[in-house]
Amino acid sequence: MTHSVRPRRRAATALAATAAVLLVAGATTGAASPASRAAAAAPDIAVADVKADLAQLQSIATANGGNRAHGRAGYQASLTYVQNKLNAAGFTTSVQQFTASGRTGYNLVADWPGGDTSRVLMAGAHLDSVTAGPGINDNGSGSAALLEVALAVSRTGYQPAKHLRFAWWGAEELGMVGSRNYVSGLSSANRAKIKGYLNFDMIGSPNPGYFVYDDDPTIEKTFKDYYTGLGVATEPETEGDGRSDHSPFKNAGIPVGGVFSGADYIKSSAQAAKWGGTAGLAFDRCYHSSCDTSANINDTALNRNADAMAYAVWTLSA
Ligand code: TRP
Ligand code: ZN
Repeated sequence: MTHSVRPRRRAATALAATAAVLLVAGATTGAASPASRAAAAAPDIAVADVKADLAQLQSIATANGGNRAHGRAGYQASLTYVQNKLNAAGFTTSVQQFTASGRTGYNLVADWPGGDTSRVLMAGAHLDSVTAGPGINDNGSGSAALLEVALAVSRTGYQPAKHLRFAWWGAEELGMVGSRNYVSGLSSANRAKIKGYLNFDMIGSPNPGYFVYDDDPTIEKTFKDYYTGLGVATEPETEGDGRSDHSPFKNAGIPVGGVFSGADYIKSSAQAAKWGGTAGLAFDRCYHSSCDTSANINDTALNRNADAMAYAVWTLSA
C-alpha cells in the first residue's frame, strides 16, 4: 500500500511544481490566455509632461499672432507638433481636410495598430483656439492631455482588446466643423464600428469644477468611479449640452462621454465648498479671451483629469 502512495505524492508534487512554473511564466511574459489575463492597470499621466506640451502650444501661439485658430498658421503648427510626436511613437496618423468660413481646416486622426478593428474606442479633443487668444485651457488642455494618454499607450506597449483611435479636431470654435465632417464622412459600416467616443474640451480651468458628461451610462460610471477613488465629488455636466465635439457622435447614435472643468458659468458657494476655489467667479474667467494663456491652468484639475482620461481609455478598451 505504501509503495502506491509514494508515486502519487511524487506526481502531485511534480504537478504543483509545473503549475507554479506556468504561473510565473504567465505573470512575467503576459502569455496567459486572454480569458484569464487581468486588465492592465492604467498608467499615471505625468502632469509635467502635459504642461510641457502646453508650453509648446503657448510658444506656437505667441510666434503666430497670439492664437492657434482655424485657418491660421498657429493651427497648422499645433497640428504638426502633435502629429510628429504621435508618428515617433508608432501611431498611424492621417490628416483630413475640410473647408470652413473660406479657410482650409484639418483634423488629425491617430490609430494605434492592433485591437479588434470592428470594435473601436475613440477619444478626441479640439485643437483649434478662438482668434482672440492662445486657447491654452480651451482647448490646449484637452489636446495636450490626450496626446500624453496616446504616448502612454505607446510607452507601455498597451495591447487593448478594442482598437484605439485618437482625434484632434479642427474648427470646433466655428461650430464643431471638423468633428461633424469626420462623422458625416463615415460609411454606415465604419460608423457602426465605433463603440464609444470620449471628448475632452477644457479640463484645466483655473477655478475648476469636476463635471462628468451624463450621456452613456457605462462611460459616465467609468469616470465617476475614478473620481470616487480619488475622493473628489463630481456633478453632471450641464454647461451647454451639445456644445462640443461629442455632439456629432451622439447624434449619430454613438455612446459618448467625457469630463469638463467649466467655462464661463459662475461657481456657486456650494461648489466652492466641495471643490475649493472662488464662489461667484467663473470656472474660467479667461474663456475665449486673450488671457487664456499657460497661466490660465489649474494644475490639480489638469492632473486629475489627465489621469481620469487614461483610466477611461484603459478601462473601456480592455
Ligand atoms: N466647447 C466650448 C468651446 O470650446 C466650451 C464648452 C462650453 C464646453 N460648454 C461645454 C465643452 C460643455 C464641453 C462641455 O467654446
Ligand atoms: Zn473648446
